[in-house]
This record gives sequence, C-alpha cells and structure tokens, in this order.
Amino acid sequence: MGGKKPEGMVLINDQGLRADGRRPDQLRNIKIEAGVLKQADGSCYLEWGGNKVMAAVYGPRECHPRHDQDPTKARVRVRYNMAAFSVSDRKRPGPDRRSQEISKISSEALEHVVLASLYPRNAIDVFIEILEAEAGTRCAGVTAAAVALADAGIPMKGMVTSVAAGKIDGVVCLDLSREEDNFGETDFPIAYVSNTKEIVLLQQDGHFTPADMDRALELTQKAAEEIYELQKQALLRKYEKLAQNGGGDGDDGEPAQPAAASDAAPEAAPEGASDAAPAEAHDEPEAI
Ligand code: CDP
Repeated sequence: MGGKKPEGMVLINDQGLRADGRRPDQLRNIKIEAGVLKQADGSCYLEWGGNKVMAAVYGPRECHPRHDQDPTKARVRVRYNMAAFSVSDRKRPGPDRRSQEISKISSEALEHVVLASLYPRNAIDVFIEILEAEAGTRCAGVTAAAVALADAGIPMKGMVTSVAAGKIDGVVCLDLSREEDNFGETDFPIAYVSNTKEIVLLQQDGHFTPADMDRALELTQKAAEEIYELQKQALLRKYEKLAQNGGGDGDDGEPAQPAAASDAAPEAAPEGASDAAPAEAHDEPEAI
C-alpha cells in the first residue's frame, strides 16, 4: 500500500474494469475445503485468488504453559505464519512483527465467537500457514481458520468471515490483488460474524472519505455473505463425504472418533456446521 505507482500503470481502465478484468465489486475466485488434515482436530485448505492457505486447529486441550491458563475460559491462540516460499522474494522464516500483529488480530476476531467459557483452563490452538501469498492473506487466513474451528466441532456463536475492500485510482473496490495492494491508495480488511453482522476485525491502511467508508462496508458485507455460503458448503461437503463413507474419514474407512472434549461437551455449533463432530481432548498439550 502506498508504493509509488510506476509511470503508465492503470489500475482501473476506461471501462471501469481492473487489471485482472474484475469489476470493482467482484471477488477473486475462492475455493474452500474442510477436513483436509488427519492429525489435526479440524482443518481447512483455502485458495483465494493467488493465495493458498492451510488452517489447522488443535484442542480444546489443557493449556500449557500453565501460567497461561484462564480458570474461567479457554484461550484461543492463533499463530499466523508465512512460508519462506510463499512470496517472490524469499521470506525470512520465523515470526516477525507483521506475523505477530496478524496472529493477534486473528485471535481477537475468532475468540469473540468461540464459546470459550465451556473449556476453562484449556487452549484452542489455531495455526494459519500461508503457502502462497498474493495480498489479502489475513482475510484468507481468518476465513480458513473459522472453517477449521467449525470442522473441529468447537462451539461457536457464529461463523467469522473476512474480506477486504480498498481504494485504487480513486475507486472503492473489493478484495485487492497484489498490484492493487502495492500501488493503491487504501486497504481496508474487515471480518464479520455471519449471523449477527458484528465486526470483529477492522484495519485501515490509507485514507477514506465517509462516503468511501460507507461503500467499503456495503461491498464487504455483501461479499462476506457470499463467502459465508462457501464456508458452509465446504463443511457440508465434508460431512456428506463422511456419511457416504459410513462415518469414517473417507480415506481409510476408520470410524469417526467419539466425543471426549475437556470438562464440558460442546452443545452449540456454528451455523452451517450443525453436523460437526465434537472435539477430542488431548493428553499431551503443547504450547504454541
Ligand atoms: O496479506 P495481507 O494483505 O493481509 O497483508 P499485507 O501486510 O498488506 O501484505 C500484502 C501482501 O504483500 C501479501 O499478501 C504478500 O503478497 C506481500 N508480502 C510479501 O511479498 N512479503 C512479505 N514479507 C509480506 C507480504
């Protein structure tokens, strides 16, 4: 954001279309698959334009280190990581300020919907791995993580869906591409709770007028509804596949594991994940 635009670069052409042919109100292609990892309690693989993201959930399980435990609720811990090979210039492996910031805002967005008081002293660990990055990875990561939480059977009061708007060549547009992110004027990632429309993440890099802000909210709310449908469908597909395989995980015919979650059995489930299998408790917790 805010990079000097190369001479002659046009982000919106005379027909009002963007460099990749999209209209201002158009999302990039999104594909979501739930339950892709056998060893995690819940998982999601998501492709969003050129972004490729894996999210995995472990827990609820006893929170370690113990001094991190909250006697009233579970801690929702998110680690966002960008693989060294995810961008054109090799990214230095390991946490940096950016990944710490994204981990924090993602955790704050997700913990708002998780019914954490059902699991005192527990941790719910969420790993977001960016395998390929092409702008908007925090939105893709949060959207994938919410599906992985539902896939793990973690009770939630709603699904979290994240998407960005921005301003390029003076026009408010949905879901910026890398070029638009680099050379546009404003980036505005946001996350909503599906059923209540609450905003659980909002950041702004650059400037908006009040009218731009209204337009960005309008575009992102509508897009979040579309993406929420894809999240629901991904979860339903997983359980349809399970049902077709007689309750096994679809690969080896093994039956699904029974419920054994922590102190309290999950009762509520997020919208669209009503068939989700309950989470298992784990004996050997690990700190993130
Ligand atoms: O990915 P997101 O838009 O949420 O965050 P950003 O910090 O605005 O980064 C925008 C994009 O810059 C990323 O999606 C990557 O494509 C790129 N990037 C990069 O090439 N190298 C980095 N170390 C960080 C970001």
